[in-house]
Amino acid sequence: MKVLSVSSEVFPLIKTGGLADVAGALPLALKPFGIETKTLMPGYPAVMKALRNPVVRLVFDDLLGEPATVLEATHEGLEILVLDAPAYYNRTGGPYVDVLGKDYPDNWQRFAALSLAGSEIAAGLLPGWRPDMVHLHDWQTAMVSVYMRYYPTPELPSLLTIHNIAFQGQFGADIFAGLRLPPHALSMEGIEYYGDIGFLKGGLQTATAISTVSPSYAEEILTPEFGMGLEGVIGSRVGNLHGIVNGIDADVWNPRTDPFIARNYAPTTLRNRSENRRALEQHFGMHEDGSPIFCVISRLTWQKGMDLLAATVDEIVAMGGKLAILGSGDAALEGALLAAASRHHGRIGVSIGYNEPMSHLMQAGSDAILIPSRFEPCGLTQLYGLRYGCVPIVARTGGLNDTVIDANHAALAAQVATGVQFGPVSAEGLLQAVRRAMRFYEDQKLWTQLQKQGMKSDVSWEKSAERYAALYSSLVSKGM
Ligand code: ADP
Ligand code: GLC
Repeated sequence: MKVLSVSSEVFPLIKTGGLADVAGALPLALKPFGIETKTLMPGYPAVMKALRNPVVRLVFDDLLGEPATVLEATHEGLEILVLDAPAYYNRTGGPYVDVLGKDYPDNWQRFAALSLAGSEIAAGLLPGWRPDMVHLHDWQTAMVSVYMRYYPTPELPSLLTIHNIAFQGQFGADIFAGLRLPPHALSMEGIEYYGDIGFLKGGLQTATAISTVSPSYAEEILTPEFGMGLEGVIGSRVGNLHGIVNGIDADVWNPRTDPFIARNYAPTTLRNRSENRRALEQHFGMHEDGSPIFCVISRLTWQKGMDLLAATVDEIVAMGGKLAILGSGDAALEGALLAAASRHHGRIGVSIGYNEPMSHLMQAGSDAILIPSRFEPCGLTQLYGLRYGCVPIVARTGGLNDTVIDANHAALAAQVATGVQFGPVSAEGLLQAVRRAMRFYEDQKLWTQLQKQGMKSDVSWEKSAERYAALYSSLVSKGM
């Protein structure tokens, strides 16, 4: 089976969050199922720089107003199609925002162009390669299925995966002419969204099937609280809605071989973690004592509950905990956490920024990872935590709920507990969870048991890739 995946980020070429990890790992995990994926992505500067021996495969003289070229190259086992359109992607900021953190005003055009290119490739425009279906990710590529619906192209099945419904690609109706769609596309069945235009909404209406990245989140987005305005559209498609939990790349995230950590280890050599712990304490200038280190590796946003963290740090320190925080995001939250670090010198270390190698050392050297998300479609850092013996302390929501087994009495007795869950998601809930974890930590035998059980959990892509493969097959065999 041949699949065209279209994504606005793909690890290791460009990453702002978990979407990149998934778009980079899933094609590799699907190979053993006989699925050949080519991934179309934008030619951001970092991507253009990383490409080795790209070949020109397709030329657009006028892709929504700008010229563009599709280049093909292989990169670390991935077959990549890069949309090289300097007017859209050759910018100094990130994939979506400028250097000041503001959305690019033409994001609608940048991602509609990517989507239009995707729909043309889906229609067989790439010489010698025609996919059997397309797999789309989030609002940035949701318009592929919209173009497939409204352009006179052969019909092909499509799967749209929701990674984060908070970002919907909503724009004023005045952009409609620029999208070059027929007038009836601006309707309830198409991209019209509360009087505006919704890219994700259009994709949810037109994709053959919809999925999201955990079973719990698939249920949650049917409710107004989590659906964020799209619960009605998703509800109308519930028969075609799937929840498949993410896996992780078990080679990139392997404490036995990880090149970014001070000392490699396995479940039988957990004592070697102490060297990683020391390296971490030194990096963050934290006291080298035996108190538990709680780490946070996260976008610093409301979704991730980082305001709750900022509100509870003093008490966590008062309870005897240490905190190592790596992240970037809202300026106010960055400021609040930096202020906490200067209040608690030696007990709280904060590093603002994005640092992939450091994120590995933090999982390898901390005792626990805190994830107090208000909503979490899947979440990857708890999966890395499980694999690294860094016990996850998580909000009971979405994929966190589906991947961490709370250390309640039954789970402890059955020796299946892998972490701590809490709800409701509030400052008090978070503190209680940390308090519980501290009690477990005092009993080193119990703590080691939690670590080892976590390390045994299957966080690989294997089972989920099988589910995707089955879903792909059912879509392709139905023809639509
Ligand atoms: P989301 O995609 O919502 O941000 P996920 O948990 O799915 O959340 O994925 C986040 C990914 O980004 C993980 O791979 C995590 O390790 C990584 N990450 C987040 N913040 C940082 C950071 N500041 N430095 C390095 N990696 C980070
Ligand atoms: C999103 C979600 C996160 C998920 C990731 C990859 O960014 O916020 O929960 O793990 O996508 O699917």
